[in-house]
This record gives sequence, C-alpha cells and structure tokens, in this order.
Amino acid sequence: MLIARTIDELRQHLAAAHKPAFVPTMGNLHEGHLTLLRHAKTLGDLSVASIFVNRLQFLPHEDFDSYPRTWAGDCAQLEAEGCDLLFAPDEAELYPQPQTFKVHPDPVLANILEGQFRPGFFTGVSTVVMKLFTAVFAGKAQGVAVFGKKDYQQLMVIRQMVRQFALPIDISGVDTCRAPDGLALSSRNGYLSATERAEAVQLSLALRQLGQDALAAGPALPAQLPLLQAQAMDHLRQRGWQPDYLTVRRRQDLQAPQAGDDLVVLGAAKLGATRLIDNWEV
Ligand code: PAF
Repeated sequence: MLIARTIDELRQHLAAAHKPAFVPTMGNLHEGHLTLLRHAKTLGDLSVASIFVNRLQFLPHEDFDSYPRTWAGDCAQLEAEGCDLLFAPDEAELYPQPQTFKVHPDPVLANILEGQFRPGFFTGVSTVVMKLFTAVFAGKAQGVAVFGKKDYQQLMVIRQMVRQFALPIDISGVDTCRAPDGLALSSRNGYLSATERAEAVQLSLALRQLGQDALAAGPALPAQLPLLQAQAMDHLRQRGWQPDYLTVRRRQDLQAPQAGDDLVVLGAAKLGATRLIDNWEV
C-alpha cells in the first residue's frame, strides 16, 4: 500500500488511475470501514482510503482531542484488505490557512437531526469532503466514493453536494455493519464501559420498535407520530440514556412523513459520556 502525506504525492500515485474508488475515514478503523473498502475495490480501478480527523466537524466541547488515533493498526488493516493507496495528510497540508471558505449545505437538510444537536457539523463535513474529493478526483472523468449508511444524514448531504456541484463522482451507500448483538459499529463504541456496552444495543432496539409502531399506525401515522416518538425517548430515558432525538422521517428528504411514504427511523442518544447514533430503513 502506498502512503501519500501530501496532495502532490497523492496525485502522483493516482496519475494512472481512470476511476479511483475512495473511502474517506477519520481512522480508528473497524469492520464497518473495511466493508466500505471491500465494496470500493469492486467499483473502481484503484482503491484509496483517507485518514484525517477533521477538526472542522467537532464542536469545541466534543471529542476532537481524545478521538482515537490508531495509526499502526489502521495501516495494518488497510494493507491486509489490499488497499492500494492511503492519503493521510496532517492539518497543515489540508488546512494550510484557516479554512474561512466553507461549503454550507442546504439548511433544510443539514440543520435538522444531527445538525440541530451539532450545529455546523455538516458544514465541517461538507468542507473536508469537498477538499478530499478535489485532492483525490481532480482531473478524473469519473470516480466513486463510498460512505456508510450508519451516518445516514451525512450520506444524504454528500449526495446532494455532489449533485448540486455536478461532481463526476458516484456516491455509493453501504449498509451499517453491526456487532452480533445488533449494535452499529462505531469508533465511539470504544468509549463505552463494559456495562454501557451491554446496554448500548438498546438504541437500535428502540429504533426498531419505533419503526414497527410507525408501520402499524398506517394512515394515522402523522397524528400518532409525536406520541410514538415521545414514548421511544421516554423508554430510553428510563434505562438511563439521554436521548437527543428518536424520530421517524421520510427517506427521500428526512422531513416529516405522510402515510404511504418510505420511512427511515433515526436516533441519537447519550449513554454516560458517549453519544451514539443509529438508524433503520423501515
Ligand atoms: O464519516 C466520517 O468518518 C467523517 O465524517 C468523514 C466523512 C471522513 C469526514 O471527515
């Protein structure tokens, strides 16, 4: 596996590629990331992963400083999966000046759910993803980038960005990888104590229950939804969680659903000091 620390090196290594297949990450890789990479390898002629913990997408009180940085283990896993090229810039390479020029996604999509509880998060994500895309795909007629559905809203924001800027990049979404008990894999699961880890699957169980209740409501869904969502959040509160939201939305744009819409249930909740997110396409 080649490793590029600068955009120039990256582009030299990419010179012969016709259709790079790219997996952006913040490192601390787990089976979820490796699944994205395996999928990427089937889609392009050269697989590229990036590792960059993006300061811009963290709020001041969040875990930027403590976010797990596991360079040696990450490289070994990527190598074992046959990743062709790893782009691992430092902050000075990606942000040589303070990044005052940013990509601001549509607030209708980006200021709800995660964006409501993490203001500016999707501006930080969109800005770094645009920079990574221009680093990887500049001069290429086509490319593909692979994102996990675990970050459902992020995937939708990136799809919209690519569409609206007419970038020649296919965005491929991959199903969430789960532990045997059903917990969605996430780098932040490593923050959980043993007791919290045993409890953590309850978020995905509560989302599944909420999804089933939403389906059962049929045409009465819009009227019943506030109560169903409140019940789901209360259930987690009683188990010691602090939920930000558990909600049913229509899949196409994450707005409030009408009866008959395709649905997705999304949730975010804190267990102790750890904030987890998950979702389920009903
Ligand atoms: O999903 C992530 O790991 C990050 O948000 C991403 C897409 C790598 C941007 O920093």
